[in-house]
Amino acid sequence: MRDRLLKTVLRSLSDGFAVIDREWRFTCANQSLAKMASKEPAELVGKNVWEMLPQLAGTTFFTELHRALEQQTPSQFESFSAPLNAWFEHRVYPSEDGLAIFSVDITERKQGEELLRFQANALSQVTEAVFGLDSQHRVAYWNEAAEALYGYSAAEVLGRPVEEVVRHRWIRPEDEAACADSLKTSGFWQGAVIHLKKAGEEIYIEGSVTRIEGAAETGASYLAINRDITQRRQAENYLGQAREELEERVLERTAELWEANEELRTEMAERKRAEVVLQTTNETLTKQAQLLEAAPDAMVAVNREGKIVLVNAQVEKLFGYGRDELLGQGVERLVPTRFRGQHAVHRAGFFKHAQVRPMGAGLDLYALRKDGTEFPAEISLSPLETGKGVLVCSAIRDITERKLAEQRVRELSRRLLSAQDEERRRLGRALHESTAQNLSALSLNLAVLDQMARPSLDDRAAQALAESLDLASQVARELRTLSFLLHPPVLDEAGLAQVLRSYISGFMQRTLVKVRLKVSPREFERLSPDFETAIFRIVQESLTNVHRHSGSKVAGIRLVKRSSAITLHVWDEGKGLSQSQERSDIPASMGVGILGMRERVKQLGGSMEVRSRNPGTLIEVVLPLEDEKGYPAHNDQNP
Ligand SMILES: Nc1ncnc2c1ncn2[C@@H]1O[C@H](COP(=O)(O)OP(=O)(O)O)[C@@H](O)[C@H]1O
Ligand SMILES: [Mg+2]
Repeated sequence: MRDRLLKTVLRSLSDGFAVIDREWRFTCANQSLAKMASKEPAELVGKNVWEMLPQLAGTTFFTELHRALEQQTPSQFESFSAPLNAWFEHRVYPSEDGLAIFSVDITERKQGEELLRFQANALSQVTEAVFGLDSQHRVAYWNEAAEALYGYSAAEVLGRPVEEVVRHRWIRPEDEAACADSLKTSGFWQGAVIHLKKAGEEIYIEGSVTRIEGAAETGASYLAINRDITQRRQAENYLGQAREELEERVLERTAELWEANEELRTEMAERKRAEVVLQTTNETLTKQAQLLEAAPDAMVAVNREGKIVLVNAQVEKLFGYGRDELLGQGVERLVPTRFRGQHAVHRAGFFKHAQVRPMGAGLDLYALRKDGTEFPAEISLSPLETGKGVLVCSAIRDITERKLAEQRVRELSRRLLSAQDEERRRLGRALHESTAQNLSALSLNLAVLDQMARPSLDDRAAQALAESLDLASQVARELRTLSFLLHPPVLDEAGLAQVLRSYISGFMQRTLVKVRLKVSPREFERLSPDFETAIFRIVQESLTNVHRHSGSKVAGIRLVKRSSAITLHVWDEGKGLSQSQERSDIPASMGVGILGMRERVKQLGGSMEVRSRNPGTLIEVVLPLEDEKGYPAHNDQNP
């Protein structure tokens, strides 16, 4: 009963089922199995298997069944049926009565596997890393390229869950869903992903995953084909970067161009503005020009570049140029060549601190006419604001007449001084030679008289005679001093240094003022008589002032001769000069002494300063020497 039930069940199985007795006869076969042999079950039962299916002789099926029966061990194996072009899987269970056989058509599975194997075989040749996953997502295939790429050998990974072997990271988070979605709908996904090698190194992968449908119960398997694009990506990155850089450079360049453009635009705007300004400037200038035209002085306006932009009629008259010859020309054309360089420098300086002032204070200025002649000029400068910038307007006056007048006055005073010197020299000599001789004769006579007549004289007469003798010698002394002061006779013969020494010793005796004299070098070479006389007179006048005005008990004189100049200092420690005396050049309160000193110094081309020191007064005189022997320059002209 149990047996029959079992047989009924087995008969209805979709798998093939048959029982075979020890004589290889079918005792039972179901529909599915009979179908595998292209028979009906009824045709098989009671028949010998190998007679019924002679094609099976010598196949796996044949040997496996014999082995199972002889050895009484179950067997499981696959066989291919050429006529049916189908694969079967057989499980064989032996018993004392025979064999029970279960057979399943596995052609479909086989074909899948075959395909997989074929593909895998093909894929092992490709350079892409290829791996297959079974339906449980375990690694079922791993080609050589995969070994090389991931660093795992096939033996290491086969059978392991793919998540353990191929760890991954999505490049963009949304890729994960896109992959799953694509596999589900189309069974195929292609894209890029980051994989980790065995050693943990990240690589960029471009790959595809194909879903391979299997039997319903086993589920799908997958095939992945991957390529390392790390380098390509780096190259792409590099390219991208290069492109970015390029773009950046293009942007920069564009910005530069834009800037340049902008500059150009502002420049154009400025030029336009300048044009307007120029126009108004020209108008202003025209107005000013009309005013300037009427000015009594020659007027020249110069721009920052030193170009003449305006002249009046007086300029044409004074310089002999036509207006057109000057406008737009450098102003230095009106300056004598030897002053041009300096003039340009001063001109630039004036533009920096433009203010109304005379040009070249303290200097003698000259201007150059077209014909090459020069004239002394007085020039005053004033800045003139115009829309176009600052112009400098100079008023030029020919001062030839004034210079000539000055020169005449100087010449007169020079003659006066030398006449005075001459007069003194003459007087001094007369006193020294004639008067002093006469006085000696008188003294001699008085002495003779005294000797011869004294015994016969009464007391009053003798007294008068003695007093006369004393007086005579006193007058002789005074006469000597006077004549020395008028003109030291030794000055002509012995020279300045020696004369100063003897003058000072006489001065000290007379005045009780202690004078220190320093002469350097100790012995002067002889100077020209003009210089020696002048220096002596200045020392004399200064020391007289010290004695008469300062109240000082000491005074000092220092005379230094260098190659280029002689410097004289006379100082005292007295009450000093009043402020007004010190300050003013030609003060009304000053006597002729200091004025005379100044005039002498000026005649010789030198300079003199009178200063207060603390305490006392200092007079400093500098006389320039021109030739190398230190012989003073005779120069009545301007320096
Ligand atoms: N060394 C000095 N110390 C003080 N005052 C002086 C000295 N030298 C000149 N002065 C003042 O300067 C004035 C001008 O001197 P100066 O020209 O020599 O004329 P004068 O000697 O005939 O007065 C003097 O009157 C005096 O007041
Ligand atoms: Mg005096």
